[in-house]
Amino acid sequence: MAVADESFPSCRGKPIFIRDMLLKKPVSNPTPQRVASSNGSADMDAADRRILSRLLDRGLGLTSSPTLLAALAKQCRLRAASLDKSPEAYLRLLHANGSDAKAEWILIAPAIVVGETFLYRDAALWELIETKLIPDAASTSSHVRLWSAGCSTGEEAYSLAGVAHRAVGHKHVRILGTDVNPVAIAAARVGIYGRWSMRGAEASDRNGLIVNGAQTVRVSEEVKSLVRFETHNLNDPDAWPPLGAKAFDLIICRNVLIYMSESARTDVIARFVTALHPRGLLVLGHGEMAGLRIHNLSVECYDAGIVFRKVENVSQEQSAASASKQSKSAINRIVPKQVAVTKRVFRGFIPTPPPGAALAPRPKLAAEREMLSPAICRRHVASAIQSAREGKLQAAERDATAAAAADALDPEPRVLLAALCMVRGAWVEAEGQLRGALFLDPCFVPALWQMGNLCSMTGRKRQASRAFARALNGLDGIADDKVALPFDNVTVGELVSLLRAELAEPARA
Ligand SMILES: C[S@@+](CC[C@H](N)C(=O)[O-])C[C@H]1O[C@@H](n2cnc3c(N)ncnc32)[C@H](O)[C@@H]1O
Repeated sequence: MAVADESFPSCRGKPIFIRDMLLKKPVSNPTPQRVASSNGSADMDAADRRILSRLLDRGLGLTSSPTLLAALAKQCRLRAASLDKSPEAYLRLLHANGSDAKAEWILIAPAIVVGETFLYRDAALWELIETKLIPDAASTSSHVRLWSAGCSTGEEAYSLAGVAHRAVGHKHVRILGTDVNPVAIAAARVGIYGRWSMRGAEASDRNGLIVNGAQTVRVSEEVKSLVRFETHNLNDPDAWPPLGAKAFDLIICRNVLIYMSESARTDVIARFVTALHPRGLLVLGHGEMAGLRIHNLSVECYDAGIVFRKVENVSQEQSAASASKQSKSAINRIVPKQVAVTKRVFRGFIPTPPPGAALAPRPKLAAEREMLSPAICRRHVASAIQSAREGKLQAAERDATAAAAADALDPEPRVLLAALCMVRGAWVEAEGQLRGALFLDPCFVPALWQMGNLCSMTGRKRQASRAFARALNGLDGIADDKVALPFDNVTVGELVSLLRAELAEPARA
C-alpha cells in the first residue's frame, strides 16, 4: 500500500476538530455558506484535511477533493454511530491494516467513488480491441483471459465480452470484472441497463450482446456467461491477484487511475504487470500513465490510443518511461506494426424518425367510445412491447399511444409511451406521460424507475435519486422473484440491485 503503516496521527495530536466534524448533523434549511460547511470540507483546517486525505489515499488510493473528503467524513460519522464507536475509534479502525479495515473500506466505498460508465465507451478503442488485440492474444493461447479492473456496474466488462465473443467466439474467452464498490458489482451481475447506457453502442455492437426491452436493455445470457464479477480493491496489496484469477492476456483499466494518487497508480500498475502473461496487454484511459515511470512495459501506438505490452527483458525493448512525455517518434520506434483503425462516427443511440413519419393520431374518443376498454388497452400494450423488442420503435409508439387512449386510467401505457419517447429524445413529452402515470398511481414502480432515468439523462441528479428512492421503497417487502418492470420481465430482486447501485446503498444481506 502506498502509505507506510503508522499510528493514527489525529488521535494524538489534534483530534478535537475531526471529532466535531464527524459528529456534525446536517442542518435544516441551510444557507449556502452553511451548505459548504456541512457538506464539504470548508470547516476543516489544513491539518484535518491532511488527515482525511491520507486516510483516503491509504484505503482506496484516491486523491482527495472537497467532495470526496465530505463524503468520507459523512460515512465515518454514520458508520461510527452504527458500530457504536467513537469517531476517533472508527478512524483508527479505517487506518488499521487488518481484515476489519479492508471490509470497512469496501462497505463505505459506494458513497465515495465515482461510477460513471456506459456500454462501448470510446468506440474506436473497442474496434481496436476486437480487430487486433484479442485476435493477437488468441493466436498464442487457447483461452483468452481478460480483466476489466474498476468496471463499475459492468458495462466495460460486457463490452469486452461482446467484442471478444465476436473476435474469437464463445468457447475461448473468460472475463473478470472487478470493482471496489460491492453495490455496483451486484448491479453488474444483473446485467440490465437503462437505454441511456447504449449511447456509445452502434447497431453492430448490439448483436449477440443486448436483448431489447421497452424500458431497459439486457445483456444476453450467452455473453453474461463469459463474465465473472468480484468485489476487489485495487489498492489492497493483499487482494492480489483477484481470487482465483490466472495470468491475463489483457487488462483494461480506464477512468479509474485518474482518481488515484501517484503512488497508488504506480503500485496498481506494477501489480497489473505482475498479473499479465508475458507479452500481455494493458489498456488504460487517456493520461492515466501521466508522469509515471514503469518498467517492464513497452508502448504500442494505434490511432485509437496507446496500449502497453508486458516485456520480459526491459533492456531489449524500451520501457514505458513516462509515456505521456514520449515523443511520437520515440513511440513509433518501438511500435511493431501500426494498425490503422478507422474511427467510427458516434451517431448516438437515438434513431431520428424520417421526415413525415408522423405518429398515428390518437383514436377519437367520441367516435370510438364503445371500443375503448381495458382489454383493448392490454392488446395494444402487448403489441407495443413486441414491436419495441424487435426494434420497431415507431410501430411500438403507435400502439402505446392507442393503448393510452383506450384506458385513460391505466398508468402502464403512459410509462411505455414515455420510455419510447425517451428513445427518440422527446424528453418533455416523456416527462408529461410519466407525470400522468404518477398522477394515476404515485407509487407505480415502472413509472418511478423511468422518471429516475429521465432525470439522470437530463442532468437532474437529485430528482433522479428521489424517484429511485421512491421506487426502492415501493419494492420493500415484495418477494425477489416477482416481476417489477412488467414490459421487460425484470424481477424485484434485479431491480433492487439496480436501484441500490443508483443510490449507492449497501447491498441486501
Ligand atoms: C468512472 S468509473 C470507470 C468505469 C469504467 N472503467 C469505465 O471507464 O467506464 C471508476 C470506477 O473505479 C472504481 N474504483 C475506484 N477506486 C477503486 C479501487 N481502489 N479499487 C477498485 N475499483 C476502484 C470505482 O468504484 C468506479 O466504479
